[in-house]
Amino acid sequence: MVKPRVYVTRPLPGDAHQRLTDDCTLRLWEGAGTPDAETLHAAVADCEGLLCMLTNTVDAALLDAAPRLRVVSSMSVGVDHVDVAALTARGIPLGHTPGVLVDATADLAFALLLSAARRLPEAERFLREGNWTWARRWEPGLLLGHDLRGATLGLVGLGAIGQAVARRARGFGMRIIGWTPSGRQVDGVQVADLDALLEQSDFVSLHLALSDSSRHIIDARALRRMKNSAVLINTARGPLVDEAALVDALRSGQIAGAALDVFESEPIGADHPLLGLPNVVAAPHIGSATLGTRTRMAELAVDNLLAGLRGEPTPHCVNPEVQA
Ligand code: GLV
Repeated sequence: MVKPRVYVTRPLPGDAHQRLTDDCTLRLWEGAGTPDAETLHAAVADCEGLLCMLTNTVDAALLDAAPRLRVVSSMSVGVDHVDVAALTARGIPLGHTPGVLVDATADLAFALLLSAARRLPEAERFLREGNWTWARRWEPGLLLGHDLRGATLGLVGLGAIGQAVARRARGFGMRIIGWTPSGRQVDGVQVADLDALLEQSDFVSLHLALSDSSRHIIDARALRRMKNSAVLINTARGPLVDEAALVDALRSGQIAGAALDVFESEPIGADHPLLGLPNVVAAPHIGSATLGTRTRMAELAVDNLLAGLRGEPTPHCVNPEVQA
């Protein structure tokens, strides 16, 4: 039997390559970074399966270049890099990797929250720049941060990751309020409308998927509603936030800080205005970046791809209607 040809846009951890070569003819991008659109389109021209990352745009142009494509599997939970409607129109299932990255991403959201609350990057800079002198070895007012106990955490989005952040916050004695477009209720999270959440929260953490309705949900108006002492945390998607408005809000003292793992346009350069601000903690989109989590994501992505190629239902399918 002729094995289906698949293209994988980055080397994968665990036994993913072995599992793929057992069942498929594997073509793997091993260049630096990620293939550009032209390279990707050429590579998928004769492929039946594509296993991609969130850095690969999967749109109608790619589908036109890949007439034999039967399944797309993204090693990500978010799928805003994929034109889902275009795939659905062609009857192509899209797999993704929910669930397995919940704890790692919630851990990072909390690490960012703590880091901003206790000003860890500033503290480290203070030390590395030689400012910790004998005269300043302990000062009542040095690098004062915020208490978590009793502080209000506002969760924008109460899916699995938002709920996992709520569990962590409970352990720190925080009051937790939440808003979600679906109106979902979650035990231990007091429901608030978005404006009330922004007005009451000491920390606002974003956990929404990116869509037309969530793009720039945190804009200048939303930022104006937040407390001057509040910190915004974003581990979801950069375009949820109007970054220019955020820079203004951070510069003017409208809000106290931001802790960001994601940005409107990634990657950001070292000269990005956000990185020039002392009240910003930043990371390069590493929410799911633990070996265990990335290995499980690769496993799920391979499960999805292989099922689709066999004509079986893709276990984690974004557009299950194509499998009906
Ligand atoms: C990461 O951002 C993902 O969507 O998996």
